[in-house]
Amino acid sequence: MSDLYKDPIGTAEAAAKVIAEKTGKAKHQVALVMGSGWISAADALGKPTHEFAVTELPGFPAPTVVGHGGKVRSYELAGGVNALVFLGRTHFYEGLGMEPVAHAARTAVKSGCKAVVLTNACGGINTEYKVGQPVLIKDHISLTAASPLIGADFVDLTDLYSKRLRELVKAADPSLAEGVYVHWRGPSYETPAEIRMMRTLGADLVGMSTVPEAIAAHALGAEILGISLVTNAAAGVTGEKLNHEEVIAAGKAAADRMGKLLAAVLPKL
Ligand code: HPA
Repeated sequence: MSDLYKDPIGTAEAAAKVIAEKTGKAKHQVALVMGSGWISAADALGKPTHEFAVTELPGFPAPTVVGHGGKVRSYELAGGVNALVFLGRTHFYEGLGMEPVAHAARTAVKSGCKAVVLTNACGGINTEYKVGQPVLIKDHISLTAASPLIGADFVDLTDLYSKRLRELVKAADPSLAEGVYVHWRGPSYETPAEIRMMRTLGADLVGMSTVPEAIAAHALGAEILGISLVTNAAAGVTGEKLNHEEVIAAGKAAADRMGKLLAAVLPKL
């Protein structure tokens, strides 16, 4: 068993130490996890000061999914803000357990980040959403019911997706919608009947990530901003079939807008 499974917080601290050594920056202030299709948006942040493979850090498995980069970048943004950017993530459906899924978020907080921005690609359940539209996550429903927390860690999730951070982003782009995100284990997409169930439960967006990372980082004291990019209408909404290539392509098409949005808000978080 690797250290990550025995001691997730200690392994995150060890990874943070290596990041500080590699970058020469004792602390980073803000972190960004770039999900499927978002990776090209990171280029809008300018030139990173450092880039290395996640596998050079303790506890990170090699990426397995097309469109998930497996790289870490460090940026110095306006005002001297150090931003840590993870290109890609580990998903619960990879079957490695919750520890690797939550590891980047925990590493970010242990690196000093007070704000963690989690981006993802998702299916739009809300029929008002259009493909290519970013939506701020205002709350979630965990249909995996799996938590990255172990033991009697009774963390309050009332304001998990920080209202303060959402208001900051909306000041930069008032047209942004807010929605409720469902965490679906995957890797199979949902059935049309499952999407109807989710809509009845009050969901607007569905995807296979973000929720465990949000809980893990919040439990360590960080503020969370979640941004979903609607890459397709959810199953049964239009009758079209779903595929991963379409998800990646929709992300690439929206990369410019997403990159500008991130570049505008990150230094302010
Ligand atoms: N369902 C779940 N995850 C997703 C989807 C979807 O429709 N699109 C992108 N990620």
